[in-house]
Amino acid sequence: PKRVRISYLQQLKDSGGKFAMLTAYDQYTAAIFDEAGIETLLIGDSAANNVMGHETTLPITLDEMIVFAKSVSSGANRALIVCDLPFGSYEVSPAQAIASSVRLMKEAGVQAVKMEGGAHYADHVRSMTAAGIPVMAHIGFTPQSEHALGGYKVQGRGDAAQAVVDDAVALTEAGAFCVLMEMVPAEVAAAVDAAVPVPTIGIGAGSATTGQVLVWQDMAGLGAGKAPRFVKTYADLRTVLSTAAREFADEVRTGVFPGPEHSF
Ligand code: KIV
Ligand code: NA
Repeated sequence: PKRVRISYLQQLKDSGGKFAMLTAYDQYTAAIFDEAGIETLLIGDSAANNVMGHETTLPITLDEMIVFAKSVSSGANRALIVCDLPFGSYEVSPAQAIASSVRLMKEAGVQAVKMEGGAHYADHVRSMTAAGIPVMAHIGFTPQSEHALGGYKVQGRGDAAQAVVDDAVALTEAGAFCVLMEMVPAEVAAAVDAAVPVPTIGIGAGSATTGQVLVWQDMAGLGAGKAPRFVKTYADLRTVLSTAAREFADEVRTGVFPGPEHSF
């Protein structure tokens, strides 16, 4: 199948279409989502929480992201594969951001990178774009800044709305091919989508964006505990896996497994 390219996402924006993005961190989920027609896969630094068990996204390293990204690249051949620049891999300078992005594209085979931060990163985006690196901007709530922002909070309420639009415009003018917004009021996301020519993606950002993204374990009901408000759970994988594990253990204890058909 032909690879989804950023030009295709742009066509969807121009024609009023929509697209879906899911996170993926391994080859099986990447292949399943790719075959299901998910247009774009994100190796999110949310792997820190959702795979590695960290409390925040901050500890995950570029080397660790490369391992997850290689797995996803090997599993998906249609979806556009985007990888997060993790905390500490880009902030210092445009040169640092380029060096980290080159590693992700060269060693892990991803086709674009996503970077958290607002208008103050316009110079980064300009330099990266000039180097041939497609950059997805991530604005609104940016989890790598959760300590600075004082926790998981909706951004861009009231007087702060204009700053979100200004961030999107500055980053797009610098060359970002897409703007992802996390936890902003629906009307602010709609204003951003109207203000920029490029496709937009939302998570907890209402329905006006070109695309929607969810963390796959949230979407599939793998995690314990209550999902955030912006998540819709489309499956109950936690119960499916738990039931399978219990049945396996039961059958081992009772001698039902393995049967003659599983034996040599
Ligand atoms: O890391 C991640 O999963 C993300 C998405 C939630 C946008 O950045
Ligand atoms: Na992320």
